[in-house]
Amino acid sequence: MGELSAAMARVPADEVDREIELWLGRISQALDLDRSAIYERDSAGQPVRVTHTWRRPDFPAFPRNFDPVKFFQVTVDWVMAGNPITFSRPTEIPPKLEDARRFVERWGPKASAVIPMWGGGRVIGAASFGKFRSARQWPPELLDHLALSVRLFGSAIERKQSEMAIRAVRTELRVASRRNVMSELVASLSHEINQPLGAILSNLGGVARLLSQGNPQPAMALEAVNSAIDDTKRTAEIVRRIRSMFKHHAEHKTALGIGTLIDEVVKLTTGEAALRKIALQVEVSPAAQRVIGDSIQLQQCVLNLVMNAFDAIAEANSARRAVIVKVAPEKTGWVGVSVSDSGAGIAPAVASRLFEPFVTTKKDGMGLGLLVTRSIVEGHGGRLWATPNPDQGTTFTFTLPVADRKRVGASRRA
Ligand SMILES: Nc1ncnc2c1ncn2[C@@H]1O[C@H](COP(=O)(O)OP(=O)(O)OP(=O)(O)O)[C@@H](O)[C@H]1O
Ligand SMILES: [Mg+2]
Repeated sequence: MGELSAAMARVPADEVDREIELWLGRISQALDLDRSAIYERDSAGQPVRVTHTWRRPDFPAFPRNFDPVKFFQVTVDWVMAGNPITFSRPTEIPPKLEDARRFVERWGPKASAVIPMWGGGRVIGAASFGKFRSARQWPPELLDHLALSVRLFGSAIERKQSEMAIRAVRTELRVASRRNVMSELVASLSHEINQPLGAILSNLGGVARLLSQGNPQPAMALEAVNSAIDDTKRTAEIVRRIRSMFKHHAEHKTALGIGTLIDEVVKLTTGEAALRKIALQVEVSPAAQRVIGDSIQLQQCVLNLVMNAFDAIAEANSARRAVIVKVAPEKTGWVGVSVSDSGAGIAPAVASRLFEPFVTTKKDGMGLGLLVTRSIVEGHGGRLWATPNPDQGTTFTFTLPVADRKRVGASRRA
């Protein structure tokens, strides 16, 4: 109990779920049980979900999408009202919980203890401890300990939920503060567009003058027209990029394999890599899971970072010409995607303004790639940052939420 309570007090919010699952297993093993679970409910009227499970190895898994309310509404209401249920054999189940008795006779454990879970002054769920192979006694002292364990679980979950809620508010604030960034963006955008428009105007003015003087000078006129075409394209590209940046609301988020997504991007860039004599390596950790996101937007992110990495290597004319795209688990519930290059590192002149619009060191650069990438990543709840490599070059990393059931539940709650 001492260890459990220390662990629950210490565990960071992100790791609460994993820690609880660990302890659920430890307790169940110590008691020689077969299957245990924790159920949670956000508020009255909401569904009760199975959020943590443990089972003896080789013991049948918990039914997927198991919905306790469907099987035993009366019993769920009874437990959620704060009443425990324990039985050493099925015949001990109180007659008023007939639905539980029916379930237990058909599927259930020979002995079980179901204990309401309190968090923040209300019942937020329950824990069930089941023995299926044989009947089992539940001495009062043991029940006291189980109740205390479940209370510790409950307060850890409560703490996790309030931290999630705080994070959600912070995200909202970030979005709001980005709206201010938007007005800056619009200001620099009009500046950025006015420049090529001015150049187009003066080039076309020159052509008009040449034509009106009856002295076309084809070579000179052609140069001016071509230059105007280039500037027009550039302006159109700025507009297109800005539009794609604001298309986020039309996004389509699903659970997707991050490895597959990166393979798609690699396919898109093989030609470019070959042309620039750069080796593009992909390292996807076997533990890397599925993430939640908009596949097109996320491809855009990886592509932007890979193109920047290529540019960095080309720019530095590095002897080692390798870009490594790596996927590895980050803190619990998150996966990190990183792109490392062997370029010359970030130019000090732009280092503090990398994510600002139109900040670029490239002749043909627009200075929007990182801004767009960060905006997409943050739209997915993640973060994007750059770190210098110990030997050479830079690594850009962004995080994405893992698409497991619990994580989805957590963000829904938040
Ligand atoms: N991997 C990198 N190594 C070194 N510098 C980088 C790297 N990635 C980005 N930078 C610096 O950050 C600047 C901004 O990058 P960003 O992707 O936003 O714009 P860009 O690449 O210049 O233009 P574009 O809009 O075409 O992507 C770059 O011009 C470059 O100076
Ligand atoms: Mg770029």
